[in-house]
Amino acid sequence: MAVETTLSILKPDALEKNKIGDIINRFEEAGLTPVGLRMVHLSQNEAEQFYAVHKERPFFGELTEFMTRGPVVVMALRGENAIERNREIMGATNPDEADEGTIRADLATSIGENTVHGSDSPENAEIEVNFFFSGTQLFDR
Ligand code: TYD
Repeated sequence: MAVETTLSILKPDALEKNKIGDIINRFEEAGLTPVGLRMVHLSQNEAEQFYAVHKERPFFGELTEFMTRGPVVVMALRGENAIERNREIMGATNPDEADEGTIRADLATSIGENTVHGSDSPENAEIEVNFFFSGTQLFDR
């Protein structure tokens, strides 16, 4: 297994529910270390760019509206097998299908308002980390 860096977003619903600490704690306890972290309120344009892969999907409008509803926390998480590990800790996209004890099972409202984003491949992790962080905003820890 290799050390990887992945992008995590704590979505607007996570911040509205005051769950920043709860969620970061789950990652740290699982050996995923934040090496970059900031709060940002995405513009409509930024949300559309970030989720461009979904632009033909029927939920695209709702998704970008939700992601711009309030600030989000963006994090670069680093650790062994970080991309897959992050996805396991998040749980399935639909909280009704997410395993017990995952972030989405415990905290998400619906498939649309599902609390966290996590990169789904090494290629996307690199693109997504670079979307939010420049080299000097990432730290070796
Ligand atoms: P997707 O990449 O399929 O899921 P994940 O976030 O688990 O990688 O979809 C991206 C986001 O789009 C998802 O987190 C929430 C939203 N979405 C919907 O609102 N409705 C849907 O039916 C799907 C599949 C996704």
